[in-house]
Amino acid sequence: MKFLFSTLLAVASATLAVANPAWHGEESWLENRAIAEHVSPPRSISYHGKTPCKIPPHSPPRNKVCYVKSHNDSSTDDSPYILDALHQCNNGGHVVFKEGTKYLIGTALDLTFLEHIDIDIQSYILFTNDTDYWQANSFPFVFQNVTSFFKLGGNDVNIYGGGTVDGNGQVWYDLYAENIYILRPVLFGIDGLHNSTIKDLVLRYSPEYYHFIANSTNVVFDNINIAGASKSVNVAKNTDGWDTYRSSDIVIQNSVIVNGDDCVSFKPNSTNMLVQNLSCNGSHGISVGSLGQYEGEYDIVENVYVYNISMINASDGARIKVWPNIASAQSGDLQGGGGSGYVKNITYDTMSMANVDYAIEIYQCYGQKNLTLCLEYPSPLTITDIVLKDFTGQTSSKYAPQTSSFACSSTTACGNIVAQDIDVVSPGGQQDAYCLNVDNTLLDVNCTSTSLGFN
Ligand SMILES: *[C@@H]1O[C@H](CO)[C@@H](O)[C@H](O)[C@H]1NC(C)=O
Ligand SMILES: *[C@@H]1O[C@H](CO)[C@@H](O)[C@H](O)[C@H]1NC(C)=O
Ligand SMILES: *[C@@H]1O[C@H](CO)[C@@H](O)[C@H](O)[C@H]1NC(C)=O
Ligand SMILES: *[C@@H]1O[C@H](CO)[C@@H](O)[C@H](O)[C@H]1NC(C)=O
Ligand SMILES: *[C@@H]1O[C@H](CO)[C@@H](O)[C@H](O)[C@H]1NC(C)=O
Ligand SMILES: *[C@@H]1O[C@H](CO)[C@@H](O)[C@H](O)[C@H]1NC(C)=O
Ligand SMILES: *[C@@H]1O[C@H](CO)[C@@H](O)[C@H](O)[C@H]1NC(C)=O
Ligand SMILES: *[C@@H]1O[C@H](CO)[C@@H](O)[C@H](O)[C@H]1NC(C)=O
Ligand SMILES: *[C@@H]1O[C@H](CO)[C@@H](O)[C@H](O)[C@H]1NC(C)=O
Ligand SMILES: *[C@@H]1O[C@H](CO)[C@@H](O)[C@H](O)[C@H]1NC(C)=O
Ligand SMILES: *[C@@H]1O[C@H](CO)[C@@H](O)[C@H](O)[C@H]1NC(C)=O
Ligand SMILES: *[C@@H]1O[C@H](CO)[C@@H](O)[C@H](O)[C@H]1NC(C)=O
Repeated sequence: MKFLFSTLLAVASATLAVANPAWHGEESWLENRAIAEHVSPPRSISYHGKTPCKIPPHSPPRNKVCYVKSHNDSSTDDSPYILDALHQCNNGGHVVFKEGTKYLIGTALDLTFLEHIDIDIQSYILFTNDTDYWQANSFPFVFQNVTSFFKLGGNDVNIYGGGTVDGNGQVWYDLYAENIYILRPVLFGIDGLHNSTIKDLVLRYSPEYYHFIANSTNVVFDNINIAGASKSVNVAKNTDGWDTYRSSDIVIQNSVIVNGDDCVSFKPNSTNMLVQNLSCNGSHGISVGSLGQYEGEYDIVENVYVYNISMINASDGARIKVWPNIASAQSGDLQGGGGSGYVKNITYDTMSMANVDYAIEIYQCYGQKNLTLCLEYPSPLTITDIVLKDFTGQTSSKYAPQTSSFACSSTTACGNIVAQDIDVVSPGGQQDAYCLNVDNTLLDVNCTSTSLGFN
């Protein structure tokens, strides 16, 4: 007997004789009673605050269960067991990473074949610290040298279970401090995922971003807990919470993030996005961009709603960052400029903040320290129909008395940027802002500053 498959509900209370459920043995066994005892119930997702335009359709019931075996010794690669379970239970099954068991992943896994499957992570999953292996084998994405430990894609995939996925980032933070050109994998590399949910997970110590979501539609992230600071002097850099790319109808909600770069970032071609009820600590804010990085490319970010965000200890609250129309360098490993496109219909509604450097930062000179030069090459990537409303709290002293900056590279590059009910003050109580090439009458801040905070 290899697998004993039964419908979940039908056997929930049945007591059948079972084979030894040996986690270390040749086969993964399915124990009928264990279905009731060890399978997390699928949880329906509720949407408080704003309702998404589109949500993933209801998944058909899963009709088999596969437990993922493990060596459970923290040193032997469990990837073959994981692939085996995912293949066995693909198309209608439920895969369980059982509570109390550790799994180690030391092989780059192409998981783009998934379809109609639940992945129930109740346990602890760790990626190996073999930086040479991962740099040679992780999956390359076409944007900003992003690579990933595994590549997730498919249709009707639900991942949940309350477990922890650990990227073993320390070794990467230390290596990056030696060489900024190393390729650090993102924890969740997603390419072509549709009609899916990822919820109730604890994510720790990603080497780089926690999620890179490309070519995906109709995916919800709910109740994700992100943290993982460096334990050495080398800071954990570029640990964005979520970056979206060439994707639409993505919801990110009800999550707690402690990280060191964008809490959420909408990269090129992100449309119909809803982000709500996040608590972000230590980040670079909720960002549109950076955009316009690649010459000849046309980037679109449109129809984004960001609602009810708590932002603390951050460089920014709401941010839109665009490269200028001339080659520029943010750092050795982040260069660009010259791309075009547009940012349109973006709303930031209800954001509370504490110790944030700029409550709002709209900037079209990303990567270019020479503002004069930037303004000589205004951006062909326009920013229009932006609403920022109901902001409260206090900024840090970094740019005080400024609290915000609205810097467009020409009067035609931006239009209809509205900031209303912005009750954010600097530590001295001021509300000064730097406003360049924007309609000051639409901005509920004091456009009195004559230079950018950081120039
Ligand atoms: C807004 O965020 C706060 C803090 O996380 C939360 O308590 C509240 O329920 C949220 N409101 C909605 C409508 O989601
Ligand atoms: C896995 O190992 C841990 C000890 O590291 C042990 O407590 C646990 O029971 C083991 N799990 C299984 C399923 O063998
Ligand atoms: C990598 O992990 C192995 C196994 O846990 C450990 O023995 C080794 O010290 C780690 N290497 C580094 C550089 O952290
Ligand atoms: C997305 O899809 C496009 C078109 O099929 C493909 O070229 C690209 O490699 C995919 N992945 C990313 C990250 O864009
Ligand atoms: C990847 O990084 C190198 C520098 O290491 C840079 O020259 C190149 O443009 C980057 N590629 C992309 C697609 O950003
Ligand atoms: C997403 O779900 C809808 C409704 O079930 C279906 O029509 C569509 O084909 C699915 N998308 C993909 C990429 O499978
Ligand atoms: C907002 O998110 C927090 C943190 O995940 C959660 O505890 C709370 O229940 C959420 N609020 C709503 C209304 O869902
Ligand atoms: C923010 O994160 C830091 C760790 O970086 C932690 O010490 C602090 O307690 C967190 N603050 C809140 C309000 O969660
Ligand atoms: C974004 O979408 C536009 C319009 O469809 C397209 O021209 C452009 O190539 C896309 N850019 C990327 C990076 O996929
Ligand atoms: C603007 O985006 C919102 C979603 O954030 C959408 O509901 C609305 O229809 C969009 N407005 C236009 C004019 O497209
Ligand atoms: C900044 O750019 C301007 C215009 O191109 C140039 O004249 C000036 O020398 C540059 N300043 C610096 C510090 O490079
Ligand atoms: C706005 O600026 C004016 C002139 O500098 C100043 O009198 C006023 O107090 C400022 N208001 C706020 C809210 O900072």
